[in-house]
Order: sequence, then structure tokens, then C-alpha cells
Amino acid sequence: MESPTVKSFKLRGTRITAAQLDARERLWTTYGVDYVDHGIDLEGLFPGREKIVAEIGFGMGEATIAIAQSTPNTGFLAIDVHKPGIGKVLSVIEDSKIANIRVMDEDAHLILAKMIADESFDGLHLFFPDPWPKSRHHKRRIVNSGFINLVADKLKEGATFHIATDWIPYAQSIQEVFAQSDRYTGGVIERPEWRPLTRFENQGIRKDHEVTDLAYKKIK
Ligand SMILES: C[S@@+](CC[C@H](N)C(=O)[O-])C[C@H]1O[C@@H](n2cnc3c(N)ncnc32)[C@H](O)[C@@H]1O
Repeated sequence: MESPTVKSFKLRGTRITAAQLDARERLWTTYGVDYVDHGIDLEGLFPGREKIVAEIGFGMGEATIAIAQSTPNTGFLAIDVHKPGIGKVLSVIEDSKIANIRVMDEDAHLILAKMIADESFDGLHLFFPDPWPKSRHHKRRIVNSGFINLVADKLKEGATFHIATDWIPYAQSIQEVFAQSDRYTGGVIERPEWRPLTRFENQGIRKDHEVTDLAYKKIK
């Protein structure tokens, strides 16, 4: 899959702080992974790790950091295009000496399609994808049939695609999309204890939004 012409993200005004910019410039060569249009040695990015999990749309990285710290044997490929978040995560990686996160700054569709071999990931996290609530923007929602098929290609058999959203209509749409695929089994689950609160989730909760967690296991 190429990067869709209708993007699932909107690059907002870059209110990047001096510290985030400094981290981006100083630390990218150590912890960042440049986009290339061919396959890479993913395992080589995470020497000694037992599993590799991707996170798409890490935002300011709260979940990425907490989960990576609590599961040091897993390597995390953290993907987003949000410059302040990229700077923030890089600086926390340095300050907290976190060795199992690598950061990418490109549309996840392109990264998965071009750089990642099939059957590479032991899991994939998609926490609070942009809900795009207006009908005319629904085409921007990242969870659609093409995307979940692409993710299925990249997951190992039995690996889990974990999604959380605070937007009930999106949760319903996600269930409808997965119901039409024969490559997964799963649905709504209790919130897992290991999933920390993120900035976006907290904003939703303050607006009384109900949070839905969904887990889908790749079966073929
Ligand atoms: C609503 S925010 C949620 C951020 C974070 N997961 C949280 O819970 O706070 C969604 C994030 O997904 C990123 N995003 C959306 N589509 C993307 C894509 N195709 N590739 C990479 N990142 C994407 C956006 O840049 C944004 O940072």
C-alpha cells in the first residue's frame, strides 16, 4: 500500500519547544530510524530483544515510554509524524536511558508497506487514533479495510493488534471494519492494566468520553 492521498493525520502548527527541537537534532542519529523505500533489518534495530511491537501514532509518547520500561525484553518501533512528540520521546529516552525504543517520523502506511517484511511484529498498538468525527472526514480514519489488511501482513500469526479509542462511533466503525475481515478474531476487551493513560485519553475522559479497548488476534 502506498501512502494514501487522504491522510489520517493533519500536521498541526508546529509549537515545538526549544528542548524538543534540540532533542530531535541531537538524538535522531542514535534513536531515530530514517525512512527508506526498501526493506530493513528490523531485528537488527533491537539486538537481544525477544519481541518487536510497533506503535502507530504515539503522540507525546506517554504509553510508549511506560510500556517500553515495563517490558524491557521487547523492542518498540514508535511511529508518528508529530514533531513535538518526536522531540519529547527522544529526550525521555535519553534522560531515562531507555534502550528498547526506536522512533520513526513518516506516514505509517509507507513505513509498513515499504520497510517492514511480512510477519515481523509480535504486536501493534494504536492508541487513540484521530477520531475524525465529522462525516466528511471519515475517509481520514486510519482504521479501514486496507489498513487492517496491511497490518495483518506485518503481524506474526497469533500476534495482537490492540486499539483504544474514546469515540464511541469510531469504536463501532472499527468493529464493523474487522467484522468484514477473515484475518482476525477478537473485539472489545476490558482495559488492560498495562496500558497507561495518555494525554489524548485524559482529554477525552475530562469530556466524559467512554473509552473502548479492542484487541484483534491475527489468524491468517
Ligand atoms: C489523537 S493522537 C493520539 C496520540 C497518542 N496515542 C495519545 O493517546 O495521546 C493521534 C496521533 O496519530 C498520529 N498519526 C495519525 N495518522 C498517522 C499515520 N498515518 N502515520 C503516523 N502517525 C499518524 C498523529 O500525528 C497523532 O500524533
